[in-house]
Amino acid sequence: MITVRDLQKHYQVHDKEPGFIGSLRSFIHRKTRTVRAVEGVSFHIATGEMVGFLGPNGAGKTTTLKMLSGLLHPTNGHADIAGFTPRERHSDFLKMITLVMGQKQQLIWDLPALDSFRVNQAIYEIPDDEYRQTMHEFNEILELDGILKKQVRKLSLGERMKCELAAALLHRPKILFLDEPTIGLDVNMQVRIRGFVAEYNRRFNATIILTSHYMADVTALCQRIIVIDKGQIVFDGNLSLLIEQIAPSKIIRIELAHPITDAQLRYFGEIHTHDGLRAELRVPRATTSTIAAQLLTELPIADVTIEDPPIEEVIGQVFARHHTETTPVLEPIEVVPS
Ligand SMILES: Nc1ncnc2c1ncn2[C@@H]1O[C@H](COP(=O)(O)OP(=O)(O)O)[C@@H](O)[C@H]1O
Ligand SMILES: [Mg+2]
Repeated sequence: MITVRDLQKHYQVHDKEPGFIGSLRSFIHRKTRTVRAVEGVSFHIATGEMVGFLGPNGAGKTTTLKMLSGLLHPTNGHADIAGFTPRERHSDFLKMITLVMGQKQQLIWDLPALDSFRVNQAIYEIPDDEYRQTMHEFNEILELDGILKKQVRKLSLGERMKCELAAALLHRPKILFLDEPTIGLDVNMQVRIRGFVAEYNRRFNATIILTSHYMADVTALCQRIIVIDKGQIVFDGNLSLLIEQIAPSKIIRIELAHPITDAQLRYFGEIHTHDGLRAELRVPRATTSTIAAQLLTELPIADVTIEDPPIEEVIGQVFARHHTETTPVLEPIEVVPS
């Protein structure tokens, strides 16, 4: 569905010196600098796949999504989306995709969201019955009743985001580019939006690329992640395989019936935290179940849970490897199923 080959985007920026004299000087001698936002990115995404696009601020995520939606011309390389070249912005292509940016809004600020919906209905030539049907379905999941007729400016951030998503999906696009759709939302609303995206994917077999600051969005929705840093892909593959390979340890979290000493605990693994009746141990992945069994028989355990280390930590290690390795990064960290 989406094939991207060696996509690049270089921005030319003009550096201005401070002050009025600086402005004049910059005007006469324009100094330009090249920002290499995206440096040769390639991937393929199949129909119906949901892919998480991860990377620090400035990694090139938004720039990539803008190129894929045809808002920006690539400096080099090519993107093919369902047979279309995005930058040609063919009307059939535009009807097939949507770009949602959590930090930008599409709805008209001073009008009720419903008015913006009607505008979109006209732009995308959505027949009345299809419009009603879609609104009915979205309403079920997003609970839009009561907020559609309020001025957008009077909505809470969460309510507005629900309307933004509904507006962006009204024409039932098959391909979704979601750029930080949950940014700034409280946890409940994040979960709600996440649920909606998952349901949309299921119902329409939509292909989705999602960027998010919140790892929970990505772990909840995407099996596959593409990690990008400084405009380059540093990992593309299965998230759980990545965790298995990168994180050689697991966290065993225990609750104790009565207090024990650090020394008693240290025998079983590296103490991560130990505070009163709660403790976290870091143990080698391969021996996790043996150690958990030993803990249960030898210590006064009230409860025990086993978890992977936080995903942030795992991704952090991907970046750390990327920064210390001089050779191309894809081979050494690409996950090979055993
Ligand atoms: N319009 C622009 N002009 C110049 N530089 C830009 C522009 N947009 C983004 N950049 C730069 O390109 C790089 C990638 O930005 P972006 O794609 O927004 O990253 P991300 O979405 O991963 O945070 C950053 O260094 C950013 O400062
Ligand atoms: Mg961005």
